[in-house]
Amino acid sequence: MTRTQVAIIGAGPSGLLLSQLLHLHGIDSVVLERQSRSYVEARIRAGVLEQGTVELLHKAGVGERLQRERLVHDGFGLGFGGRNFRIDLKRLAGQSVSVYGQTEVTKDLMDARLASGAKLIFEAADVTVSGIDGGRPTVRYTHGGASHELHCDYVAGCDGYHGICRQSVPAAAIQAFERVYPFGWLGVLADVPPATHEIVYSNHARGFAMCSMRSLTRSRYYIQCASDERLDAWSDARFWDELRARLPAEVAEAVTTGPSIEKSIAPLRSFVVEPMQFGSLFLVGDAAHIVPPTGAKGLNLAAADVRVLYQALVERYRTGSGELLERYSETCLRRIWKVVRFSWWFTSLMHKFDDDPFAHRIQLADLDYLTGSAAAQTSIAENYVGLPFERPL
Ligand code: FAD
Ligand code: PHB
Repeated sequence: MTRTQVAIIGAGPSGLLLSQLLHLHGIDSVVLERQSRSYVEARIRAGVLEQGTVELLHKAGVGERLQRERLVHDGFGLGFGGRNFRIDLKRLAGQSVSVYGQTEVTKDLMDARLASGAKLIFEAADVTVSGIDGGRPTVRYTHGGASHELHCDYVAGCDGYHGICRQSVPAAAIQAFERVYPFGWLGVLADVPPATHEIVYSNHARGFAMCSMRSLTRSRYYIQCASDERLDAWSDARFWDELRARLPAEVAEAVTTGPSIEKSIAPLRSFVVEPMQFGSLFLVGDAAHIVPPTGAKGLNLAAADVRVLYQALVERYRTGSGELLERYSETCLRRIWKVVRFSWWFTSLMHKFDDDPFAHRIQLADLDYLTGSAAAQTSIAENYVGLPFERPL
């Protein structure tokens, strides 16, 4: 039997960042991760960090390599009707975003945690959580063939959409809101220079496409695909042809092709549970909410939850007051629903939903309106760079 103050389930960005911030404030935690370290470090996911996320990573003491290696983007492109229209984030919203892979964020956090002797347990199987409603939580798991028991004050469920923490809450105490989109994203990573300096989101009659990057020599591209698309049906050559067919000509011509080093399909959904806390269990990041990747918000939203939770736990241990902890869910949900709305709206604007030409004309009209309206551009820019942090109600 072991004891800690906060048991953290999941060593994705949410779990690692929370554990690191708590450590810097003298709060002890144990992180339990189902996968191996190398598996967690290799997962290719997000690429865009809001300034607020960058600042939180600095606060966590993991900002040094990020500061050196990130690419600062002052704008992004919207491709449609054969053109590439630039949204000037810096001018319209006064901020930029940083391109720095989630893989790198995870690596920096992992290195920092391990360097300070963190209790990080990889390949922890059969994790269960009990006693969360009685104030005496216990986490049980098996590791290296042996059963273990961890007693704690609080449990942070940072175990992603498929984790067990959300499922540990009685069904009657939680409500889920969901929208599943009738398509996915097929992503390719390749060691070729990016086609553009900034990210381009392209609306096309053949379906959505986008150009992103990880560095000046590594590109990340996505195309909309069917939800049940088979990965093996997509040779590199077929992917490059389809990508170029969906981009404005000037962007398509600038695409450098090359062998893919990773290729994967991600389904798209919007999902939120309310509330995000039950007794001593707090759900954080993808365990509580999923947004389609079109607005680049998932990781940023996870970081925003961590920010609220670590501050509430620091207050609880410093002053004994559980006031901020009690408001964790409502504080987070105010931001979450605005981000869910933006990600849903941007997804709806840019993707092909069916073969209805009316629907496509409406999207083009919306995009054309955007190009002529400073108000509409400011709205998209404000949301893209990240909404301001709200004080607890
Ligand atoms: P996760 O990263 O899912 O981590 C959860 C961890 O818990 C995992 O390591 C998992 O192995 C572990 N776990 C699960 N179950 C258990 C268990 N039973 N016991 C122990 N451990 C368990 N977001 C952005 O902000 N910007 C982007 O540009 C962006 N692009 C994206 C592109 C794609 C294609 C995808 C798929 C996502 C993208 N996202 C983006 C979303 C972002 O990747 C996620 O929101 C982010 O990973 C959430 O972090 P998390 O730590 O909450 O969850
Ligand atoms: C990425 O680079 O992986 C990326 C960038 C922007 C998005 C989604 C994904 O909106």
